[in-house]
Amino acid sequence: MSEKTETSEQPSPDRGRTVHGEPANAGHRVLAPDDAEVEAYLEQALHAAPPQRVETEAPELPDTVAVLDFGSQFAQLIARRVRELNVYSELLPHDTPMAELERRGVKAVILSGGPSSVYDDGAPRADPALWSGRIPVLGICYGLQLMAHELGGEVVPSEKREYGPATVSLTDADGLFAGIDREQPVWMSHGDSILRPPEGFRATAQTDSTPYAGLADASRNLYGIQFHPEVVHTPIGREVLRNFVVEIAGVRPTWTAGNLVDTTVAEIAERVGDGHVICALSGGVDSAVAATLVHRAIGDQLTCIYVDHGLMRKRESELLRVTFERDLGMRLVMIDARDRFLTRLAGVEDPEEKRRIIGDEFIRVFEEEATKLGQIDFLTQGTLYPDVIESKTSETKTSQKIKTHHNVGGLPADLRFKLIEPLRYLFKDEVRKVGLELGLPEAMVQRQPFPGPGLAIRIIGEVTAERLDTLREADWIVIDEIKAAGLYRSLWQSFAILTPVRSVGVMGDGRTYANVVAIRAVTSDDGMTADWARLPYEVLAKISSRIVNEVPGVNRVVYDISSKPPATIEWE
Ligand code: XMP
Repeated sequence: MSEKTETSEQPSPDRGRTVHGEPANAGHRVLAPDDAEVEAYLEQALHAAPPQRVETEAPELPDTVAVLDFGSQFAQLIARRVRELNVYSELLPHDTPMAELERRGVKAVILSGGPSSVYDDGAPRADPALWSGRIPVLGICYGLQLMAHELGGEVVPSEKREYGPATVSLTDADGLFAGIDREQPVWMSHGDSILRPPEGFRATAQTDSTPYAGLADASRNLYGIQFHPEVVHTPIGREVLRNFVVEIAGVRPTWTAGNLVDTTVAEIAERVGDGHVICALSGGVDSAVAATLVHRAIGDQLTCIYVDHGLMRKRESELLRVTFERDLGMRLVMIDARDRFLTRLAGVEDPEEKRRIIGDEFIRVFEEEATKLGQIDFLTQGTLYPDVIESKTSETKTSQKIKTHHNVGGLPADLRFKLIEPLRYLFKDEVRKVGLELGLPEAMVQRQPFPGPGLAIRIIGEVTAERLDTLREADWIVIDEIKAAGLYRSLWQSFAILTPVRSVGVMGDGRTYANVVAIRAVTSDDGMTADWARLPYEVLAKISSRIVNEVPGVNRVVYDISSKPPATIEWE
């Protein structure tokens, strides 16, 4: 039952690979949300010893729907769909014991699909106690087949593999399909099929090639569907999930940004007591939201550090100061380190050397400031749920990578800090909702990713104060026009690059010999692969004429039409 679908949510097998089959971010490039990079610098500066850090205790969670992961690439998507119903959902290993589910207050269980056949050696199984009916269970695809197989039904390889769109007839108007019309388009992707349901189950749905596309034993609280409700190609998917979670399992849809803020704030306050907390702000959304939650809980016991390396975009540092210091009244240490960074970057052209210098200088600045602060008990980080799922440790892969990269030796082994990760149960879109709920400005909450080394890797060649000013002005115009055209949020990133090329132009009566600015705008799901955005000509025309007219020293604008791979998003 490999799920080779072409849905928009589906990663391609080549995602993240170069044409040579290497990971697209191989080498020294850091694929990181900006926050993670800056946070990792602070960690290093404080000599935190990651492997020994204490895992954050799980907060008191609301009614939870567990999604047991049988290896489907959609498993995470199921959890997200459930959360869209305002119900908290967590992705857990397929063999999570029933006792653990009960301990976590799980009110409903969804079994994901997966690439296995129930007859495979070592096919993933669930705790048999799951079939007891104590908690309602919905099996999807492999999850349904497993349920049928374990309970004495018969699963066989189908003669015809069913893959792609199908029409399902819903033969049961109650339960899972209440309120849904009989004939529905759905998305299928399976090899095996159910030949005979287990005793006590009745058929609830069928397609031309699959007589048991839906099964239910309402008396035992067991339900199953062969199609995928989590993908966009199943329009009734949301309704089916809602029927299961809210109507059948009776879970209250109370997982809202507002509730989340209240409970997280209360938990942080209790955990921190009268301790002291430190946080690195980068200008990105994750660190901003994490810091704001902690501040709401403990006020002045939190100190935020922001290093102004002079490589930020226009007005970004200003927005940060206004938001955190003036509007939220946070204790913010803002360090003007612009000259230090410029001095160290003077004459440096190699991109990796720039990255190394910036990382190193960041750590030095943090170190100096942190020692001035005295006792620090906790470190706040904006770790997100996908990082947690992926790494299965409290350490994000990103910071690990940066650490290896910088190869800092001789860290003291003692654990000085505990971690506060208020976002470790959230997906990115939820973080944004929480940010808005907390009153953070849109410009911060909806910000596109921005690399830790900032504009330094968008100035090809040497970074100077003058070239930074030129790029900042050009970049401002790009963002301004992209926003004015209503395109900002549909693009993964959009920005300007200052090339080392100068070209001849004519302005008024005179000949010019000035800088070429490139524009880059890409669409992407995760930054691993990207396509250049088909920006409307009018938008490009406006950007071009404004840059040439408003930015001194630029007489030519070009648009980058390379996708990733083989190009990267950034030019350096
Ligand atoms: P590339 O250029 O490798 O970028 O296609 C992929 C994503 O990573 C970001 N990026 C960085 N982020 N430090 C960061 O924090 C870096 O050194 C760095 N280099 C690239 C880039 O902006 C894009 O989102």
